[in-house]
Amino acid sequence: MEGPVDVLVVGSGGREHALCWKIAKSDKVDQVYCAPGNGGTHLVAKNVPIKATDLDGLLAFAKEKKIGLTVVGPEDPLCMGIVDRFEAEGLVIFGPDQKSAEIEGSKAFCRELCRTHHIPSPQSWIFSDVTKAYQFLEGHKDEKLVIKASGLAAGKGVMICENHAEARQAVSECLDKRTFGDSGNTIVIEEFLTGQEVSVLALSDGSTIVPLETAKDHKARFEGNKGPNTGGMGVISPSPAANPRTLKQTESQILVQGIHGMGQEGRRYKGVLYAGIIVTSLGPRLLEFNCRFGDPETQPLMMRLKSDIVPYLLACARGDLGQIRSGPDWDPRPAACVVAVARGYPGSYEKGQRIEGIYEFEGHDDLMIFHAGTERRVDGNCYTSGGRVFSVTAMGKSTGDALSLCYEVLGKVGFPGMGFRKDIGKRGAYQH
Ligand code: GLY
Repeated sequence: MEGPVDVLVVGSGGREHALCWKIAKSDKVDQVYCAPGNGGTHLVAKNVPIKATDLDGLLAFAKEKKIGLTVVGPEDPLCMGIVDRFEAEGLVIFGPDQKSAEIEGSKAFCRELCRTHHIPSPQSWIFSDVTKAYQFLEGHKDEKLVIKASGLAAGKGVMICENHAEARQAVSECLDKRTFGDSGNTIVIEEFLTGQEVSVLALSDGSTIVPLETAKDHKARFEGNKGPNTGGMGVISPSPAANPRTLKQTESQILVQGIHGMGQEGRRYKGVLYAGIIVTSLGPRLLEFNCRFGDPETQPLMMRLKSDIVPYLLACARGDLGQIRSGPDWDPRPAACVVAVARGYPGSYEKGQRIEGIYEFEGHDDLMIFHAGTERRVDGNCYTSGGRVFSVTAMGKSTGDALSLCYEVLGKVGFPGMGFRKDIGKRGAYQH
């Protein structure tokens, strides 16, 4: 029988803290490392000062420490080909290879995939030529449109355009002013759909698909869905919009079609496939595929997951997920997560504020603070170092109970200028 392995988690957000926390509970694991980690990951893992995009450094570390499983959090190293590099050296790594990560790295590729493999999606049009894009807008003057930079843009490349002037502005930002650099060389214009958004994540080894529990993210910065989009201000799990019919349709029409479609394109998709869907009156429609775990979706999902996650991650990476006959098991109780952000986020934000009470807080299986943009300094205190600073995640008898626990903690732990949404999980906060 195989002995316990050492695990390397790549990344530094709340998602990675939650993954380290869950993985560290596994009896199949000896030591968890987190590169580069944050001011909280050292509580459950050993931080390693190597950036998530330093593929040479990560590879050298994994070889030296004989890491038995590497789990990649963010999209950048995946799109840079970390999985290809590790696998070429015989290392076991969870995540899609570079060709497969294009499902997130190129929105134009994703839309072509949807078209070819009949994945229900909004109508979409792809442009690289600014004149042709403006011409297209002339014929769609009265429509609300979504305009996306095709490449990675840290969540900022999606523009919801209420009118013709805003649509022209968005086209100009991408194709003329090059605000998103090469990521905006190509744009995708999509019809705007109305409904509730749901995040549905699934594990896959390229043939077997294991959907996880659902989650509902809140992307806008301010209460009532106002203000600029962020990486995510809070989550409830399960999502209220995820009824059994919607889930069945999402699994068969979106997740299975996505994974199998990728296979037919010669891209065996291993890792987690994140489907951002919108539930319309005609059924679920795919807004985006991401090639990684969501943040903050992962925090409540890891709390609700009762099964050991490590056998699933190993099986995806090795291509034998079909060998796992049961599960995973979930705690039926709902969970919630509220994100605390620095003043100014998602624009330029303050850093270096001391966070009071965070190291004194004693978490447990049903209530945790997951760190993100935090750092522990030599004085032993914790300081802010990023836009999304930490998230409080709780499980309760009801979503309301879980949220009350989160907000109670946010009344005790904090820093100057801290912001958070007070309406996470409230109906009006996520209905469009
Ligand atoms: N919470 C949204 C995302 O991870 O993309």
